[in-house]
Amino acid sequence: MRAVVYDRYGPPEIQRLEDVERPVPKADEVLVRIHATTVTRTDCGIRAGKPILARLFFGLRGPKQRILGTELAGEVEAVGAAVGEFAVGDQVFGSTAGFRSGAHAEFICMPETAPLAHMPVGMTFEEAAAVSDGAILALMGLNSVHPQRGQTILVYGASGSIGTAGVQLAKHFGADVTAVCSTKNLELVRSLGADRVIDYTQEDFTKNGQTYDVIFDAVGKHSFARCKGSLKPGGAYVATDGLFRNLTLALWTSRIGDKKVLFPIPPHYTKANVLFLKQLIEAGKYRAVIDRCYPLEDVVEATRYVETEQKTGNVVLTVIGDRAS
Ligand SMILES: NC(=O)c1ccc[n+]([C@@H]2O[C@H](COP(=O)([O-])OP(=O)(O)OC[C@H]3O[C@@H](n4cnc5c(N)ncnc54)[C@H](OP(=O)(O)O)[C@@H]3O)[C@@H](O)[C@H]2O)c1
Repeated sequence: MRAVVYDRYGPPEIQRLEDVERPVPKADEVLVRIHATTVTRTDCGIRAGKPILARLFFGLRGPKQRILGTELAGEVEAVGAAVGEFAVGDQVFGSTAGFRSGAHAEFICMPETAPLAHMPVGMTFEEAAAVSDGAILALMGLNSVHPQRGQTILVYGASGSIGTAGVQLAKHFGADVTAVCSTKNLELVRSLGADRVIDYTQEDFTKNGQTYDVIFDAVGKHSFARCKGSLKPGGAYVATDGLFRNLTLALWTSRIGDKKVLFPIPPHYTKANVLFLKQLIEAGKYRAVIDRCYPLEDVVEATRYVETEQKTGNVVLTVIGDRAS
């Protein structure tokens, strides 16, 4: 089968298409013929081997896994003898569960118990492939503040993968949502359900006197120090990036002061998450925002685009499985 491989940490250009052995499912696994996958900021971090500490998980001398890609949608090609939930021909979508990867390929084997589910009715493979990364990370962030009706949440970076999911999920949980993004994304973010939107090129939300129960920094471009004055007493700044700074602050603020930094890591992807998202999609309450689609062979170009840190929502790779081996 064709797969995008890389053998050392480095820039996007180290990725290349190669013919590799097609995996064979074990008794408890399904073999999925992938129709679409994504390039995420997670893929970019793993490939670059950054932050350096992450190499403890992904391989100290070089990557342990040669194939990136953590989200997918496709069709079940074969099932192991013990698999009961899925059958050949089922359309499925899900996540390889974060630290594992392997979706930038024509086929992947996944345990039946992995974060994998039948595709929502009426969805394309491209749409379904982009559901399970940003949304599950947003869910983790929001779950850390026990979202509830009436809570005021500001989502900073509301136009990214985590941000577009964060706005929709916070609305679903009944929060009053203020979303912050740049001018070109105002309409999109409003269409996702934000109660109000702030264009950060025109207004600094930290200077308008408004305060929030939660500030969700969905794009890692803000900081607790700058946001603190915009938090209500007992409020929380939820981080998605800035590993060392925010982990230290999380520890510190858990003991001192009434405003907290929360940084829910490592990411935890479950089948329950994917089933929850499927339910929301089928109820018309969630959609994955897609910026661009590239064919698998243009993975380097797709990755360069993701690394501009300017994508809106998600970037999809289409995998045309035109060969049987
Ligand atoms: N915690 C975890 O386990 C984990 C896992 C994966 C990724 N991450 C991190 O999570 C963050 C978000 O990832 P993502 O994939 O959702 O991001 P993304 O999709 O790459 O974010 C792109 C968006 O960020 C916005 N943006 C760029 N600069 C900005 C700024 N200065 N202020 C506000 N918005 C800005 C841009 O929109 P505008 O033009 O509208 O500003 C763009 O639409 C990243 O820092 C990533 O490293 C964390």
